[in-house]
Amino acid sequence: MQGEKFYITTPIYYPSDKLHIGHSYCTVAADAMARYKRLRGYDVMFLTGSDEHGQKIERIATSQNVTPKQYVDKIVSGIKELWSSLDISYDKFIRTTDEQHVEAIKKIFKTLYDKGDIYKSEYEGWYCTPCETFFTEHQLVDGKCPDCGRDVEKLKEESYFFRLSKYQDRLIKHIEDNPGFISPASRQTEMLSNFLRPGLDDLCVSRTSFKWGIPVDFDPGHIVYVWVDALSNYITALGYDTDNDELFKKYWPADVHLVGKEIVRFHTIIWPAMLMALDLPLPKKVFGHGWLIIDGGKMSKSKGNVVDPKVLVDKYGLDAIRYFLLREVAFGQDGNFTNEALIQRINSDLANDLGNLVSRTVGMIEKYFGNTLPSQQDSTEFDLSLIETAAATVEKFEGYMDRMLFSDALSELWVLIRRTNKYIDETQPWVLCKDEEKQSMLAGALYNVSESIRIISIMIQPFMTHAPKLIWQQFNITDPSLTEWDSIKKWGLLAHDLSVTKGDIIFPRIDMKKELAELEAALKVAQSESIANQTSKKAEEEKEVFEEITIDDFCKVQLVTGEVIASEPVKGSKKLLKNTVKLDDETRTILSGIAKYYTPVEMVGKKVIVVANLAPRKMMGEISHGMILCAEDVDGNLSLATDDKQFESGCEIR
Ligand code: MSP
Repeated sequence: MQGEKFYITTPIYYPSDKLHIGHSYCTVAADAMARYKRLRGYDVMFLTGSDEHGQKIERIATSQNVTPKQYVDKIVSGIKELWSSLDISYDKFIRTTDEQHVEAIKKIFKTLYDKGDIYKSEYEGWYCTPCETFFTEHQLVDGKCPDCGRDVEKLKEESYFFRLSKYQDRLIKHIEDNPGFISPASRQTEMLSNFLRPGLDDLCVSRTSFKWGIPVDFDPGHIVYVWVDALSNYITALGYDTDNDELFKKYWPADVHLVGKEIVRFHTIIWPAMLMALDLPLPKKVFGHGWLIIDGGKMSKSKGNVVDPKVLVDKYGLDAIRYFLLREVAFGQDGNFTNEALIQRINSDLANDLGNLVSRTVGMIEKYFGNTLPSQQDSTEFDLSLIETAAATVEKFEGYMDRMLFSDALSELWVLIRRTNKYIDETQPWVLCKDEEKQSMLAGALYNVSESIRIISIMIQPFMTHAPKLIWQQFNITDPSLTEWDSIKKWGLLAHDLSVTKGDIIFPRIDMKKELAELEAALKVAQSESIANQTSKKAEEEKEVFEEITIDDFCKVQLVTGEVIASEPVKGSKKLLKNTVKLDDETRTILSGIAKYYTPVEMVGKKVIVVANLAPRKMMGEISHGMILCAEDVDGNLSLATDDKQFESGCEIR
């Protein structure tokens, strides 16, 4: 493994004004893996970056009166600052606005077009701008985006398509032949049964209705679909198809793409199919981790429940936060984030178990031997069990880390930490110290504890970036051979006459009750700042994105007054009401997503304003003939629009 390459990637992040602890989770995990592999002697390439194109960014930038590039430049520097405050040791940060990436995407698109894997046609369907994803009618849920629940837009554009369907059988075969390709296994089953086996449609890979993206070289009115642009970052960052492609030759294929569960399908269907079309080898593994959730739901800025990693790091220190993220939740599954669980872990695992082990050992060496252990040492009857536990822990820890089971690896390491604390209780240095004849046994016991701490401090390095050095300072460990990975496989490397220097407590205990109140307040301040930001941005966005229209454009919309004469819920939908609305001399069925705000009983008798000439639209198996207008506030609450004087049904509105 010495010198063997290891290429690991995180997703490239959308430049949003605040990345939260959920985003940090993925990057901290990738960082732990990169650090672990480096410690094991691998030649690591750890890539992260930012995904900067698309309609969403264009709209936000317009609303802020800046160019998209000015907008992303500012946000990306914030992302880099966050990664630096979390000690993320990436080797390369790619921006999809980098010249090298832009040029490479143009070439990739052209290559696929020349090979016949991309062709021109017309796209008609739905698009969710926040998710930058196309959907067919039947994929929508209650007429909304099935992923984020927000409104989708109808698109009809001349577009280029990628022949995704052509690769369906090869993809299925690859996944079946390589059981480790998608991890955990449950995500493999999901991809096969929900997407691949039901059949793949060709994928729309260009847009013409906005400008912020990479133009198709040979047809510049078209912008390359953001996911084609984004996924390719994994090869363009390495200089694929340039004169400077040494990194690509060295590191591709990736050893692991680490991604959140909701984007596994882009990475295990679209991306491998693109690679097959380009005749490139596929990544060895796509690992889909779960979400950090709060109160049963994914953290999101619009819900106002995001947890700011900077607040946590400032309060408890980086090591505690990195440890908590990877210890608390089994990697691959969703995990609830709570302040109580965080403080509990800090107190029990870090302050009580690890911190206390270090400080009591240093304290005893100082107290009983005035800083330096005598070389004259004897064994105790408990030594063998401690040494065996250390060897077993190392073996299991490596096994778990190799499979990216971070929580299991840490739990195994804590077996050794607790065993070492127990060894102190068994050997009872405070009793041995009283017996003149047992001084060498006391020295031997404290040596063994110190040796165990040395091994622990090496294994903890992928997770903690400060504590190992603080421990080495206290034990005066300066020789690099005593902190390299393979040294954990040998017992007894520390000098027997080791000396210690007392330092600060590494993990202070926290008063749970007092701290919970303070932490909640600190996080609330951060959240409300983020919501205020978000709210004013949303208001600006919505105010600004509309183009000016002429009176003729406006007159194309037939607005009339109507009265709801019957209303009922739509079967299988929590959002929709099916209303019977009387217009002048006709009644219409009009579906409306207002069930959260009005009951059917409240609807009956309401005078409403209807868009009467809207093309009929099918939702949840029912056809809606028109639209009832509502006002929507910044929190998404709806209020029916009505006419002040309650005119007869069927009056025109101008
Ligand atoms: N830009 C795309 C990725 C393109 S990769 C070619 C994207 N960006 S994102 O910023 O929305 O998300 C980045 C990563 O953060 C995703 O893997 C996503 O799953 C992860 N997380 C965002 N919120 C999360 C949690 N609450 N918990 C865990 N991970 C979460 O998707």
